[in-house]
Amino acid sequence: MTTQTKIALVGSGPAALFALEKLRQNPNTTIHVYEQWPFPFGLVRYGVSPDHQGVKNIQRNLARHLAADNVRLLGGITINKHISVSELRQHYHATLLGIGAQIDTTLNIPGENLPQVHGSSRLAGWYNTHPDHIRPPPLAPKVALIGQGNVAIDAARVLLLDHGDFNGSDLGQQPTRQLRPQPVQEVAMLGRRGPAEAKFTTPELREICRLKGVRVEFEGADMESVKQRLDSLDEAQFPTSAEFRRVRGNLQAILQSLEEPNSGERLLRFVFGVRPLEFVADGDALAGVRCARTAPDNGRWRDTDEQFTEPCGFAVTCIGYRAAPLEGVPYDDGRGIYPNENGRIADGLWSVGWCKRGPSGAIANNRKESHAVAEALLAEVGGGDLPPIDDLLAARDIRPVGWEQWLAIEKAEERQASEDRVREKFTSAAAALEVLK
Ligand SMILES: Cc1cc2nc3c(=O)[nH]c(=O)nc-3n(C[C@H](O)[C@H](O)[C@H](O)COP(=O)(O)OP(=O)(O)OC[C@H]3O[C@@H](n4cnc5c(N)ncnc54)[C@H](O)[C@@H]3O)c2cc1C
Ligand SMILES: NC(=O)c1ccc[n+]([C@@H]2O[C@H](COP(=O)([O-])OP(=O)(O)OC[C@H]3O[C@@H](n4cnc5c(N)ncnc54)[C@H](OP(=O)(O)O)[C@@H]3O)[C@@H](O)[C@H]2O)c1
Repeated sequence: MTTQTKIALVGSGPAALFALEKLRQNPNTTIHVYEQWPFPFGLVRYGVSPDHQGVKNIQRNLARHLAADNVRLLGGITINKHISVSELRQHYHATLLGIGAQIDTTLNIPGENLPQVHGSSRLAGWYNTHPDHIRPPPLAPKVALIGQGNVAIDAARVLLLDHGDFNGSDLGQQPTRQLRPQPVQEVAMLGRRGPAEAKFTTPELREICRLKGVRVEFEGADMESVKQRLDSLDEAQFPTSAEFRRVRGNLQAILQSLEEPNSGERLLRFVFGVRPLEFVADGDALAGVRCARTAPDNGRWRDTDEQFTEPCGFAVTCIGYRAAPLEGVPYDDGRGIYPNENGRIADGLWSVGWCKRGPSGAIANNRKESHAVAEALLAEVGGGDLPPIDDLLAARDIRPVGWEQWLAIEKAEERQASEDRVREKFTSAAAALEVLK
């Protein structure tokens, strides 16, 4: 590799910053990190729920990479809007996309466009004060969540949490005002398969089964059937032993919750074996979700003839995400990712994280893959003179938010927090930029 290899890294979420961890170790490399918001860290800031500050603290580790000498943060620049991918490729020896998957997958069923049906990015964005999702959701006493993964668990926990439990969190003033009167009394989490097929992880399931003031019920999973399923689990039939342990742990957690049920005024129902067919309106309001019961049939879960309507006034789909298409970048419309081979999309164009492989994996799961992609990129990247990006930025009057400026924004967020909160996030980029004047 020649001296002064210039790399553009797009996105500042965990996948991009784990790649940065590797890239920055090469002293001949200069890395520019483009982030659409003046606020780095992606879903650590805007996905991880406010009551999980221990997880959000990973931000401190990731920050070290952004503060490195051969790294420059260019916040407030949206690639594909302010600068195109092909322009980046003209200014850098390699461009690495780590822009996540930010578009909600849809069910494509009638009623999905009703105002009381939201995607999980909107709900999680709202309770995380994401500038695009400030408008409060129409919370209702009965809420249906579609999907049985960790995103659904997070949503259920935030909606049912006793408001005192947000102490020490960064839940913003606006969601605090809406959640404080405890508007949600019942959450039904609908899964199209059985308890052994649910996607959540065991610590998250155990936590929600022990929430203060929340009774938990399981429909389609009684003590006998869960015991039988546990006894019949065969490690050899799982792709990995970690996956076997996760499923076994989930079944054990369900069994424990059935044996020693939590008591409380509010109710969480895990409803297994149901597939949504339609969101049913009653005038302007949402009345419920019409569902088909499903049952296993030759290894696949199929609809039975039985249908029912789950009553609810607000529903959230928690069924996955897609990356946004970018001009000049091939797009796999079926999977919602940029097709790639081990991260490589084309000459000098690479991808990591959720836009590379789809929306799966916790924060730490991104690290190994991001390191591998960074190493492959470094092994292949070329050199030579290239025009500086600052000429283009100046010509377009684009003023990026740098690392020191982000630190000033962060300090201001900590200063403006109330006593029982660790920060109060700015509700818009413009409000944050005021601090820098
Ligand atoms: C609601 C939710 C909660 C989660 N909670 C947890 C949890 O508690 N614990 C856990 O371990 N994992 C959690 N995860 C999973 C974890 O967040 C992901 O594994 C991880 O964030 C994926 O990283 P990424 O870098 O690919 O994407 P992201 O984190 O989404 O980062 C993408 C970044 O790219 C930026 N970007 C997007 N488009 C552009 C553009 N055009 N130009 C410039 N920048 C752009 C975005 O602003 C963002 O900063 C959660 C996920 C979700 C959806
Ligand atoms: N605390 C944490 O560590 C944490 C928190 C949040 C997220 N995360 C991670 O982030 C990743 C994404 O989480 P996620 O919850 O969005 O995804 P997920 O784990 O893949 O769960 C998605 C759920 O949606 C269901 N689903 C998908 N398409 C559907 C459809 N058309 N109709 C009905 N149901 C459908 C899935 O059912 P099927 O299984 O039948 O497809 C599954 O129950 C996961 O790896 C997760 O662990 C981690």
